[in-house]
Amino acid sequence: MSTRTVLITGAAGGIGGAAVRRLHDLGWEVYAGVRRSSDASRLPAGVRPLVVDLIDEETIDAAAKEVAARTGGRLDALVNNAGVIVEGPVETVPLDEWRRQFDVNVIGQVAVTQSVLPMLRAAKGRVVNIGAVSSRMCAPTFGPIAASKAALASVTEALRMEMRPLGVAVSLVEPGSMQTEIFAKAGDAARAAGWRGDAATHRLYRGLAEKMGEFTENASRAPVDGVVKVIVKALTARRPSSVYLAGREARMMATLAKVPDRTRDRLVLRTAGIDAATYEG
Ligand SMILES: NC(=O)c1ccc[n+]([C@@H]2O[C@H](COP(=O)([O-])OP(=O)(O)OC[C@H]3O[C@@H](n4cnc5c(N)ncnc54)[C@H](OP(=O)(O)O)[C@@H]3O)[C@@H](O)[C@H]2O)c1
Repeated sequence: MSTRTVLITGAAGGIGGAAVRRLHDLGWEVYAGVRRSSDASRLPAGVRPLVVDLIDEETIDAAAKEVAARTGGRLDALVNNAGVIVEGPVETVPLDEWRRQFDVNVIGQVAVTQSVLPMLRAAKGRVVNIGAVSSRMCAPTFGPIAASKAALASVTEALRMEMRPLGVAVSLVEPGSMQTEIFAKAGDAARAAGWRGDAATHRLYRGLAEKMGEFTENASRAPVDGVVKVIVKALTARRPSSVYLAGREARMMATLAKVPDRTRDRLVLRTAGIDAATYEG
């Protein structure tokens, strides 16, 4: 069998980096999209680095051209993994931050997908989009990230049906919380961006942000191996599933998502210790 080819975005990150190493070890020819060229040095020898910034169409087009030139226009798989978390209450997250969330996590994924779909069709390849279980069940201050992953889930579903008759399989992988740097980066970005609104609004939400900060800080996070295993399964199973939940937390949240809204809201708020007094600080 000829060597299989895959393009993975966000290859310098926790999940992306581990997936790159695993697929490289399994003998795949890996094209690893990194946001900064300096990150290429962190990739294993033999992996082909490509600069892919999801908010810079030129880098996406250049990367697609390079993949086409090297593979003869046939690509076996795309893993849309790169992503960011924007966090904060709906009222206070600056609109530019809302836009950044969707530009990276939704439009960026679509842009990369569009750029390589002809090659995926030629190879009857696969697309694996990395979503998040928060697309099914949100929580206070998770509005931007959860909304972006819900949008990505819908894009994945549409693409899956559009591609089915053409022989390209499309899967969504939904992890729960994983041990990566994404939460620390989100905190840094939120502090740098600041909050929208006046001082009274900021005072209103301060307690909520603190409670949710503690809640996420104390949440258990799984090692990335579990999600990498699922990505490999989605890429190699004879009949890949439409959606994979990755990890115990993801399965638990997916179950909780089926609980009626009122009960679930009460449960989430109680678990995070949020009530009217939280807003009186
Ligand atoms: N960790 C979790 O708990 C978790 C849970 C569910 C879903 N996920 C999803 O899993 C995926 C990977 O996340 P991770 O946890 O591995 O986080 P990570 O370690 O921060 O990796 C994310 C990668 O995406 C890259 N990236 C960010 N913005 C980009 C852009 N504009 N263009 C290109 N690349 C960009 C990052 O590069 P820079 O570092 O250079 O910005 C980084 O390499 C994401 O889609 C995330 O939403 C993660």
